Amino acid sequence: MTTLTVLPSGKTYDAAAGTTIMKALLAAGENIAHKCDGNASCGSCHIFVTEGRKTISRIQKLENEKLDTLVGVGSKSRLACQAVLGEEPVTVELLTFV
Ligand code: FES
Repeated sequence: MTTLTVLPSGKTYDAAAGTTIMKALLAAGENIAHKCDGNASCGSCHIFVTEGRKTISRIQKLENEKLDTLVGVGSKSRLACQAVLGEEPVTVELLTFV
């Protein structure tokens, strides 16, 4: 179990290590776009991971290729459907709202 903090609201949730950030956000009742249902093909779940980047899973090829196609991507960018939580707390900033 770890802690997931969501910006800009500042709400904090308990989340299971080993789950994707997208699934943890949806389970917590947060609204995050996920048009392709987690297949790394739509880019709608783009978030910034502002704290805890080293504790989540590394970016894989599919995610990296999709991020390359998006506008506004930076060093904190991840696809919430591909980033898997570890044991340390993570803070994310939601960029799209549904
Ligand atoms: S839900 Fe489509 S890329 Fe994450």
